[in-house]
Amino acid sequence: MQDYKEFLAEILIDEDQLQRRIVELGAEISRDYAGKELHLVCILRGGVIFLADLMRQITLPHTIDFMAVSSYGKGARDTTGHVRITLDLKENIQGRDVLLVEDIVDSGFTIASVLELLATRHPRSMQVCALLDKVERRKIDVPIHYRGFAIPDKFVFGYGLDLDEYYRNLPFIGTVNPEKYQPPE
Ligand code: IMP
Ligand code: MG
Repeated sequence: MQDYKEFLAEILIDEDQLQRRIVELGAEISRDYAGKELHLVCILRGGVIFLADLMRQITLPHTIDFMAVSSYGKGARDTTGHVRITLDLKENIQGRDVLLVEDIVDSGFTIASVLELLATRHPRSMQVCALLDKVERRKIDVPIHYRGFAIPDKFVFGYGLDLDEYYRNLPFIGTVNPEKYQPPE
């Protein structure tokens, strides 16, 4: 496996900036959801690091659940607009205040499909918290109620986001130099 330093173009958001913004988001969510049945739904796998840090900055009692959807295929760098549920929620969301926790909104198809599907299960409310927003890439309009950072149209990795399933553990968000990156066999 290649060392990320070989293909890192730049650190777009460092660990400190990420953590400071997550403190703010946690405070905002704690304020807005006071008295509600906050239920965080994390979209696997990219959202998992963000969820773990965000929930520790939320001072209200809350529950969590996970779901997974198919997005980019290995090596692919564009979306099809078709999203499939590959792992469904464990719990019923009827009557709950659902907050979707997502790593990045790109075309918007993933979040749009998840919102459409989960709406049929009658949550009391449903909002979106996305760490990153690639605004220029949007193909379908989706509401993002809590947004960590708006980022340019560059492929990013680290802090939950993968490059061919690796590098999710890095504590920062980096951009890739495609000329230097060698996908695994
Ligand atoms: P969308 O459906 O096009 O909005 O894509 C959202 C999903 O694509 C995210 O949940 C990510 O898993 C993945 N994705 C989009 N852009 C990037 C990126 O720059 N790096 C890593 N994953 C990405
Ligand atoms: Mg992904």
